[in-house]
Amino acid sequence: MALPIAVLISGSGSNLQSIIDKIEQKVLHAEIKVVISNKPDAYGLTRAKKHNLRTEVIEHQNFSSREDFDQAMVRVIKEAGAEAVILAGFMRILTPAFIQAFPNKILNIHPAILPSFPGVRVQAQAADYGVRFSGCTVHFVDEKMDNGPIIIQAVVPAYVSDDGQSLGQRILNWEHRIYPQAIEWLAQGRLKIVGRKVEVRDCPPVFVQADETAPAFVNPGLEPGF
Ligand code: GAR
Repeated sequence: MALPIAVLISGSGSNLQSIIDKIEQKVLHAEIKVVISNKPDAYGLTRAKKHNLRTEVIEHQNFSSREDFDQAMVRVIKEAGAEAVILAGFMRILTPAFIQAFPNKILNIHPAILPSFPGVRVQAQAADYGVRFSGCTVHFVDEKMDNGPIIIQAVVPAYVSDDGQSLGQRILNWEHRIYPQAIEWLAQGRLKIVGRKVEVRDCPPVFVQADETAPAFVNPGLEPGF
């Protein structure tokens, strides 16, 4: 049985694309009921349309409050029949009412190893800081920004020569692998939140892939197909 999801985007939608691809490959058991963008020119909308997905543009500046904007999104998501909400480069902070509308059913991907580098444009912040490692995090969304219980992280090296662009691309390659995997675990009902921690039932061992371009360390590990 496929998990009905809504995917929220603001930009390029490459994470949306990785989700679409894994669904089409029948590795990810989810069904995208609607793609919502707060930006009318987000390229992710074009990607969604190419796959005949329902798209909606809900522009935040057309609402007088965050609450009204979020309520409009909740209405569309519920009416579309989605049960889980996947934030894929969605650059707005959600209100408590939105989060309470989908308890423990909202996931986010963040391009850093949380709790380091919360916020926006963090790939450049990490590169400029001179970190030796960075990566990406998929986590449940709670009422604080970039704060909820962590499902999976991938770590990649950062080099002295990196800028936000080069480090960001190295991280993004792994976002595209860990996000569909985390959604599949949610779809299979294998995630259990215990306080700040997330137990993954039959959790795969740490996954290490060492090639010259992108050695990475993923925990929990990826399953076949991801
Ligand atoms: C991704 O790197 C995602 O992790 C990041 O925005 C990018 C969206 O790319 N999200 C955040 O920074 C959230 N705070 P995409 O539109 O190509 O998926």
